[in-house]
Amino acid sequence: GKERTLAMIKPDGVSGNYTEEIKRIVVEAGFNIVKERLTQLDKETASAFYDEHSSRSFFPHLVSYMTSGPVVVMVLEKRDAVSDWRGLIGPTDAQKAKISHPHSIRALCGKDSQRNCVHGSDSTPSAEREIKFFFKDLVSGDIASQH
Ligand code: CMP
Repeated sequence: GKERTLAMIKPDGVSGNYTEEIKRIVVEAGFNIVKERLTQLDKETASAFYDEHSSRSFFPHLVSYMTSGPVVVMVLEKRDAVSDWRGLIGPTDAQKAKISHPHSIRALCGKDSQRNCVHGSDSTPSAEREIKFFFKDLVSGDIASQH
């Protein structure tokens, strides 16, 4: 059946004016954009979103990058949304993406292993957590707790 994933256009993607082109690629690949929101992450929110990377040496840089400008967060839906979106964005390191996955989104607009233009949930449990993180109203089990 259909599955949902969390996609994000990172600050370099938004400031580089890639939002419309990425959304066109998303729709052409058969995803339905269920929800989308333009937002500015603060330090606390970016740190919480990337909590699993908090012990990594690049974490402070990641947080400052992710708070450097607005991001677009989207809930995408299609069959196999999680793996299909990961495939479409390409490898984490945009320099490698340009060589091994030249038609990927990171090859299109990413710069390196940090400024890689877009995010995608890496598993279905991650997708569930990340969708809930940005769109609490979309997680059925959570509706009651919001009121
Ligand atoms: P993403 O896959 O969205 O989630 C973790 C992010 O951390 C990743 O994209 C990059 O933006 C960043 N990241 C991962 N590895 C590195 C690295 N080696 N150096 C700097 N940033 C990284």
